[in-house]
Amino acid sequence: MKRSQPHLFLRNLIKHPRTTGAIWPSSTYLVDEIVKQVNYHPEQYVVELGAGTGVVTDALLKKRIPLDKLIVIEYNPAFVKLLQTKFKGLHIIQGNAIELLSLLSSERGKVGTVVSSLPLRMLSKPARKKIVEQIYDLLPHDGRYIQFTYSYLDNDFQPFKNKIYSKRVWLNLPPARVDVFLK
Ligand SMILES: C[S@@+](CC[C@H](N)C(=O)[O-])C[C@H]1O[C@@H](n2cnc3c(N)ncnc32)[C@H](O)[C@@H]1O
Repeated sequence: MKRSQPHLFLRNLIKHPRTTGAIWPSSTYLVDEIVKQVNYHPEQYVVELGAGTGVVTDALLKKRIPLDKLIVIEYNPAFVKLLQTKFKGLHIIQGNAIELLSLLSSERGKVGTVVSSLPLRMLSKPARKKIVEQIYDLLPHDGRYIQFTYSYLDNDFQPFKNKIYSKRVWLNLPPARVDVFLK
């Protein structure tokens, strides 16, 4: 069995197509591009939204984000169960990113980077807006929001205005774009 558990991903895609949002886990090309954009400060937390089978989580920990400085939020209980088995001691929250601020009420002001694999384009416009606004409110000035998308459109990430980086990873299937915003 491969570490990224593609069969579990596929099964959940069939069961929950809108929230799973991809046909298989992100490739190492995409994961490396995402993780490269994390600017870690030891006094701050990194929050990962939509961890799935944990390919980004694994790379974040390998980048030396300490276990106690990474917080993962994942909606699907089947993925949460897998993540708990793979990453012992990691703070994993089973919850909906639409309730981000209440899920992280005690970490507010202490989160330096949000890494999101959420399938935003599958959500309704109000839901997407609510999530992105809460990511904005969670971050301090200069905090980073890293989001990948399969879209070719320049999506609306209001209230973020300062996009500092954007790159399409052609070797990922399907090709995905990594966007980085600074608050
Ligand atoms: C495209 S997959 C990405 C999985 C993994 N990070 C990767 O790159 O392979 C999206 C993940 O976001 C989760 N997800 C979707 N909507 C969510 C929400 N509202 N709150 C938390 N997690 C959500 C899904 O269950 C799924 O695991």
